[in-house]
Order: sequence, then structure tokens, then C-alpha cells
Amino acid sequence: MLTSQIIMQVFHTKSKIVITCNKRLSPYLQQEVEALGYKITRSFSTGLELEGTLNDCIPLNLNLRCASQVLYLIKSFEAENPARLYKEVLEIEWEKLLDFTGYFSVSSNVDNETITTPLFANLKVKDAIVDRIKEIKGIRPDTGSDGNKAVVHLYWKEEKADIFIDTSGETLAKHGYRKIPGKAPMLEALACGTIMATGWDKKSPFVVPMCGSGTLAIEAALMATDKFPGLFRMNYSFMHILGYQEEVFFEERRKLKEKAKKDIDFKIVATDISEDAIDISKRNAKTAGVDHLIDFDVCDFADTEVPEGPGVVIFNPEYGERLGVHTKLEATYKRMGDFMKSKCKGYRGYIFTGNPDLAKKIGLKASRRIEFYNGKLDCRMLEYELYEGSKREPKISE
Ligand SMILES: C[S@@+](CC[C@H](N)C(=O)[O-])C[C@H]1O[C@@H](n2cnc3c(N)ncnc32)[C@H](O)[C@@H]1O
Repeated sequence: MLTSQIIMQVFHTKSKIVITCNKRLSPYLQQEVEALGYKITRSFSTGLELEGTLNDCIPLNLNLRCASQVLYLIKSFEAENPARLYKEVLEIEWEKLLDFTGYFSVSSNVDNETITTPLFANLKVKDAIVDRIKEIKGIRPDTGSDGNKAVVHLYWKEEKADIFIDTSGETLAKHGYRKIPGKAPMLEALACGTIMATGWDKKSPFVVPMCGSGTLAIEAALMATDKFPGLFRMNYSFMHILGYQEEVFFEERRKLKEKAKKDIDFKIVATDISEDAIDISKRNAKTAGVDHLIDFDVCDFADTEVPEGPGVVIFNPEYGERLGVHTKLEATYKRMGDFMKSKCKGYRGYIFTGNPDLAKKIGLKASRRIEFYNGKLDCRMLEYELYEGSKREPKISE
């Protein structure tokens, strides 16, 4: 546990930081964290660990495109049951950590046989904090259910429990510009992971037929102009921890503003057959400040105007609820293969799908199958090398 002296200095004291992400995004999150100059001590499919202060959590929150939460460890202990959990949490000097002029909330990730609902574990943590503050300060702190103020996070696996400050609060995986979601939108953090997986150089054309609410095209434009998610968000949970100095946050924000570029000298193209989808895309792109960087068009994907390659073309088509017969979708997948082969020469093509049967209809041989999850659904992003006519034709799959 952080000692009494240190607990007042969390912004300057190193502890374990765990950054969580959606399953299978951690290789891309790792690239981002390393690019910021941090050394990763452990990684796993839903996150990674490093050492740092609460002040280190500020640039991490503002810069990471693939992350969900940035957690800062306060105490680790053995807890075989809820009574022990309560006792251990009661011992933490919350009066030196949390700003009780607002409210606080508790989140958790629990896998302990004495707990059937995580809400009960959250309640135990809340009770311990409230009881301690009542005893020491004579006030009853307010609690809330959203992540807009201070957030305490419990990770409890079997008999080992960790108490963290969740420095993010509301998830970082949503990037704040998507006011209108559209139909089956891709989570922003996942869109970034898929773009990073393509190895796109951020200076050649990026084409998104079937763009839906525009997430992939908007994230590509944000990446190409070095605009980071922190530019779109003014409230994080670290702001509600005692000792927070707003100059650190504003200095980070100033650096982000300085880095951001206004223009690009290549094309980002986003098309969709639905007029509504393009309207939503345009509005989301405007909120993100990148609408002037994307060429939008309402058309069947096959009529998308593809700039001269090399470049990246990426599809996130519908893939049906279940495996089985999808006659119309089968024809669409076949047409996507034909489109890439005939109109995207010199490009690398990608199709993100959760339906392996439909993927077989594409009719081209994938050079890579990159694993992702979309929510709970096991998905693949298939990669196709679409050689120029004079080079090798894309192989037709048997
Ligand atoms: C799964 S959604 C894409 C979601 C998108 N990635 C996002 O983040 O919002 C699939 C999109 O494909 C579009 N679509 C379906 N058939 C199409 C076609 N033949 N040509 C162009 N777009 C099509 C739909 O209108 C829908 O917006």
C-alpha cells in the first residue's frame, strides 16, 4: 500500500499503472504507449502495465487512441471474502485522496467465488470509503453511478484484490466526436486498432467504401493530422483527485494543439449507399474538425472513385447476426472482391468481418488474417495485396 506520506503525493509517486483496452487491441496500444516514451512491464490481451505517477496518467489519458481506462494502483491485498475486502478498503486514507466536494463512484472487475454480482463488491468498497470519511471528517460523501467525478476501481480475482484510482472515468475508447452513431458503428478505439494493423503510412490515399457513420475515415484523418483524443475532452477522473494541478493538464493540451496539423496532401475517401449514413458521417467529421479532409459520396461501393495507388482500402460490411445462409450478403462479399481486384490496383485491401462463411465469398486469397473482437464477437480483418496489372494478379482462392 502507498504510505501516508506518499498518498498525499500520488501525482509525483510511481506506482503500477494498468491501461485497459478492448480484447486484442493491446499490440496497438503498446505501440502508442511506447511512442510516448514509456516502458511496458507486462502486456496481456486486454491491456498492459507500466510504472508511473498520477501525473504520467495525464498524457496517457490524452494521447491514447486504443485505450479504455488508465488505472493507478493504490493498494494490493489478499481478500477471501467481502468482509476482508471492506476492512482493507477502510484502511486506505481516502480523506487524502478523493475530493469529496463532488461525488465518487466505484467500478469493478470481479472473479471471486463469494461474489455473485459485482454490484455487491462495489457496494462494499463504497461503504468502506463512506464509513471512513464519516468517521474522520464527520461528513457523508455523495456517491454516483457515472464516471464523471472521482472513480475507484476494484480488480478482484480469486483471493487477490487491487484497488486503483481510475484516472479516466468515462471510457477513453470513445473519442467524443461521434454525436450520432448510425447503424452498427465501430468503436473508435477498435477503428484505430484496425487502421494501425494495416500499417498505413498516413500519407497515401485511404478509402472507406461502406463508411457508415464515418468512424474509420474520421480516425484516419485524425491520425494523419496528429490530432489526439485529448483535444475533444475536458473532463477526466484524475481532475477529481486531491493534489491535481490543472497546469499539468493544460500544458499537455497545449502540446497536443501545437502538434495538430490542419491539412493533408492526399485523399481520404468515404462512401456509403445510404444518404443518411453520409449525412451522419459529415456531421461527425465536422465535430471532429476533419470534414474538409474527407471526400464524401453517396453511392454503391463499386462506384467509389479510387485515387491512384498505392493506398489502403478498408471495408467494414454488415456480416449478419449468425452464421448461415445470407444470399444477398454473399453476393455483396463477392462484389467487394471483384471491386478490389479491378479498381484498387496497387492498394492493400482490408475487409473486417465477423462471419468466416461470408469471407470465403470474397474470392481473393488473403495474405493475412488479423484477429480482433468487435464487442464479444470474434472477428477477422482480412488483408489482400492488390498488385498492379504488370505485377502478380491477386490470387484467386480455391
Ligand atoms: C456495418 S456498417 C459500417 C459501420 C461503420 N464502420 C461505422 O463505424 O459506422 C455497413 C455500412 O455499409 C453500407 N452498405 C451496405 N451495402 C452497401 C453497398 N452496396 N454500397 C455501399 N454501402 C453499402 C450500409 O449503409 C452501412 O452504413
